[in-house]
Amino acid sequence: MDFALSEQHEMLRQTVRAFAEQEARPTAAARDEAMEFPVDLVKKMGQLGLMGVAVSEQYGGAGLDYVSYAIVIEELSRVDASLGVIASVNNSLVCYGIETFGTEDQKRELLTPLAEGRMLGAFSLSEPGAGSDAAAQKTTAARDGDYYVINGIKNWVTNGDYADTIILMAMTDPGKGHRGITAFLVDPREPGCSIVKVEHKLGIRSAHSCQMAYDNYRLPAWRRLGEEGQGFKIAMTILNAGRIGIAAQAVGIAQGAYEAALEYAKIREQFGKPIIENQAIGFTLADMATRIKAARLLTYEAAWRKDQHLDFVSAASMAKLYASETAMWTATKAVQVFGSNGYSKEYPVERYFRDAKITEIYEGTSEIQRLVIAREIAR
Ligand code: CAA
Ligand code: FAD
Repeated sequence: MDFALSEQHEMLRQTVRAFAEQEARPTAAARDEAMEFPVDLVKKMGQLGLMGVAVSEQYGGAGLDYVSYAIVIEELSRVDASLGVIASVNNSLVCYGIETFGTEDQKRELLTPLAEGRMLGAFSLSEPGAGSDAAAQKTTAARDGDYYVINGIKNWVTNGDYADTIILMAMTDPGKGHRGITAFLVDPREPGCSIVKVEHKLGIRSAHSCQMAYDNYRLPAWRRLGEEGQGFKIAMTILNAGRIGIAAQAVGIAQGAYEAALEYAKIREQFGKPIIENQAIGFTLADMATRIKAARLLTYEAAWRKDQHLDFVSAASMAKLYASETAMWTATKAVQVFGSNGYSKEYPVERYFRDAKITEIYEGTSEIQRLVIAREIAR
């Protein structure tokens, strides 16, 4: 058993950390405040190979493993969790979905530009009435010759307003329940697809999530992903991998909040000594470090299992569950360590606190992760 990361992994971490510190840190708070999507940073991430980390080189990716992917998302999120989710959606929901289920034409036309960062991807499963109960899809796709005609409303499409390709789930046969769902590769710039609103969010505000409407939107049949009726299975398989990305995002947020709290606790003096010298503060920091280490190990293990082609469904859910609760706990405690300054936008921990919460909600809430784990261990 070897817990050491390879030299290549460590070098990748240093590269992404340098990028995040130099390019993202200076603007992270202002972009968050203004809800400004980081167009230029996303372009640079593409040039650095961060938008298709685990995509094979043949299709424009960096050809690295999933542990590398986890490191990338962790390091981006340590500084700016918005960048983490933008990259995570493109990498592990969209690129992974097309590489796993796409045709050769779809890979050439869509995967390569997505992996190279020349296009941006989004993933659209959720609807007003289909959140945790993802199979309760109301959006329909009716075959019409060489086209599908799509109608419906999709919620919370992350990257939606900047996306060039969206993996969209819709009902082709409503009578068949989840086996009537089909996946499609939508071009949102074609007529019939529109942005209803960009959500005003608590956190990850520099990433955009949109409500989108499809009104007699016509999609050429070659853009169907997989077979008719396979869409729910495709969505679930994609989410298994995606949850490793959100676990890594949570580890990064927790690490960022912890580092800020540690530094502050060493310099802030009350009662004539640094606050870290109070056992209550020292123990809080010790618990943070311990929980983050455990969350990181679970996340890397889930990624490693995927790399080894072992079953990783419950490992990914455990990592996502534990890491997201660690991020929320750590960020809450970090605000406490900062006292009043933790409540101020002049310091970074209030942003970590707001950003942490989403990791317990998207790509399956903590309750849904427990449901997945319970089903897996009962099998
Ligand atoms: N992997 C592969 N297949 C799976 C699966 C998994 N993890 N979970 C279920 N399936 C398959 C089952 O094997 C079954 O297949 P058959 O048709 O062969 O029988 C089928 O899917 C239906 O399974 P269930 O009966 O278990 O389905 P369910 O309706 O009870 O729901 C659920 C299962 C786990 C609750 C699922 O609905 C779920 O994951 N919900 C959460 C939704 C979610 O995570 N949304 C995320 C949206 S994307 C996002 O959030 C992105 C972002 O923020 C950035
Ligand atoms: P609900 O399903 O209504 O759940 C409400 C509460 O009930 C939760 O606490 C939930 O855990 C609990 N609950 C529900 N069912 C059960 C159960 N069976 N057992 C126990 N408790 C249960 N979706 C996409 O498709 N693509 C995206 O890119 C995307 N990005 C997002 C970005 C953001 C910022 C947000 C907030 C959401 C995003 N989502 C996206 C949607 C996200 O995946 C859903 O919000 C999430 O799956 C939960 O669904 P819901 O909000 O409808 O909550």
